Amino acid sequence: MSAVLLKLTDLCIRTPDRTLVDGVSFEVVQGRVTAVVGHSGSGKSLSARAAMGVLDVDPGIQRGSLVFPGISDRDWFSGVCKQGMSAQRRLLKETAALRGGYVTYSPQSASSALNPGRTIGRQLELAIGRRTEKPGDIGVAVREVLADVGLPPRAAYALPRELSGGMAQRAALAVAIAPRPKILIADEPETGLDPVLRRVVTELMLDCARRLGVGLMLISHNMDTVERVADFVVTVGPPPKGTPVGAPSRGVLAEAK
Ligand SMILES: Nc1ncnc2c1ncn2[C@@H]1O[C@H](COP(=O)(O)OP(=O)(O)O)[C@@H](O)[C@H]1O
Ligand SMILES: [Mg+2]
Repeated sequence: MSAVLLKLTDLCIRTPDRTLVDGVSFEVVQGRVTAVVGHSGSGKSLSARAAMGVLDVDPGIQRGSLVFPGISDRDWFSGVCKQGMSAQRRLLKETAALRGGYVTYSPQSASSALNPGRTIGRQLELAIGRRTEKPGDIGVAVREVLADVGLPPRAAYALPRELSGGMAQRAALAVAIAPRPKILIADEPETGLDPVLRRVVTELMLDCARRLGVGLMLISHNMDTVERVADFVVTVGPPPKGTPVGAPSRGVLAEAK
């Protein structure tokens, strides 16, 4: 049995006049892939951000629970539901140490994941910083992470704009896995890429997740990818066309294969 690393249950998020997310539940399991599918605007990114304690909607979270069973049985949403922005800001601070460590987030485009003004090596050093004891080990760790994503050591000296699109994607993945997270949340990693690169990026991400035993939450529009790689499929909102058979209709965890 693989360990459940993240358990989000019955999430509901509102603005004053709209319900943005209603009844979304999912789990992230060690060494497995949880795919999150749904139409554009259905609340996938919001749910993913809420799962990391990042909530910036007013009045925001109305219902739900968030537990990281790998850490404790604390419900991080307790005392936050219906308490508005100040409680959400408190949660943001309290979960800060989890982000970039226990759980990392890989945003939709490599350009938003990478800092344009810093070399890849420096960004990796900062991402690794928390887990290494001796400064001398960081150079070794940087090369190791670059190798994990198939980049040569010299990529450490490059600025993001000096990399090709494919290399930038690899570098963004390197930054996400550098802290050796238990959970990686990848928000539509294939969007904006050509078909060949799409496949390469997804395979690389899966390969890294498998090798490192990471629980991967993959938000995706690409049903072929979902069908191929997902252990679990979660739909947010009405299921999009092509959702794999057996996937639940609304935010409930189900075994896809
Ligand atoms: N901070 C926010 N405040 C108010 N509405 C938001 C906020 N962030 C996202 N939304 C709205 O919530 C809905 C879901 O957004 P999102 O989670 O980004 O969708 P997607 O499924 O495409 O990732 C959208 O209608 C979006 O406009
Ligand atoms: Mg989104």
